[in-house]
Amino acid sequence: MRIGMLTGGGDCPGLNAVIRAVVRKGEGVYGHQLVGFRHGWRGLIEGETVDLTIDSTRGLLHRGGTILGTSRTNPYKTEGGAEQVKKTLEAERIDALIAIGGEDTLGVAAKLSADGVAVVGVPKTIDNDLSATDFTFGFDTAVQIATDAIDRLHTTAESHDRVMVVEVMGRHAGWIAAYSGLAGGADVILVPEFEFDIEEVCERIQRRHRRSNFSIIVIAEGAQPKAGTLTLQSGEVDDFGHVRLGGIGNVLAEEIESRTGYETRVTILGHVLRGGTPTAYDRVLATRFGIAAIDAVDEGAFGRMVALAGNEVIRVPIEDGVKELKVIDQGLFDLAQVFAG
Ligand code: F6P
Repeated sequence: MRIGMLTGGGDCPGLNAVIRAVVRKGEGVYGHQLVGFRHGWRGLIEGETVDLTIDSTRGLLHRGGTILGTSRTNPYKTEGGAEQVKKTLEAERIDALIAIGGEDTLGVAAKLSADGVAVVGVPKTIDNDLSATDFTFGFDTAVQIATDAIDRLHTTAESHDRVMVVEVMGRHAGWIAAYSGLAGGADVILVPEFEFDIEEVCERIQRRHRRSNFSIIVIAEGAQPKAGTLTLQSGEVDDFGHVRLGGIGNVLAEEIESRTGYETRVTILGHVLRGGTPTAYDRVLATRFGIAAIDAVDEGAFGRMVALAGNEVIRVPIEDGVKELKVIDQGLFDLAQVFAG
């Protein structure tokens, strides 16, 4: 078989480990030919390919980013895009496609699959917000980077008697904020799933400062204040309709400083959370997903996405992964509140 592979959406530590695993078993065990498409769906529209062999994918396990490149191109938002994708698949004599991506990339994969394209999905996102899988690779790395940052901010916050606001990624789901906030001992954790009340946040900080001289607040970039309480800036919109976020931390810090009088500083971790080497956990999960994906292709299990259920890697319909976002629940939120302030 000739099997195509692409990585789409935001990059994520572990993508190269998936590519390596697919090629290792695809070529080494099954004897298939692997072809990479550059820059996500854009590579399929523009026909930009790269041969993937065991030799060309050596030394990838620990490397962040994606050797295939990525983009947020949506073929269904590009004039004739979906047709062009099918033409490229035909011209390149591709029998099956492995799409590695998040909600948007896999949403396109689900549509193409319904249209008869032989596709298998691999879930990826640092945000951990894909349904039908307990975890996605990249999340553990992002949480570890954020936790390390929070640990470092603790000592400087304590030395200067300051409030430290740490903004992390997560536009619709607060998984990174909740996990890194819990791991780093944050005093306040603010997530998109539950609107926050600025007055309540300030009260909590004031309560804490009666027995401690500093505090740490972790806020997800998509966290929302209760209607009409704070004004947020709006940004550009991408092909999938997502607004570029980043900056709520600054608004929050200004407000805290002016309401409480405590000196406040902001650290926006942003893309640092996506860069660099994956943790051991993510390397193993990505490797398991890559092997499961090539097995699924070899067995002709198309329209499926590999997923983690407990400690098992299973197959689910791609639509199950993308039909709704997996957000944090009341239980995890309440648990975090036990340690607040
Ligand atoms: O979806 C992953 C993610 O890292 C989000 O957490 C974040 O909002 C977004 O990508 C940023 O996208 P970009 O790199 O295109 O600015």
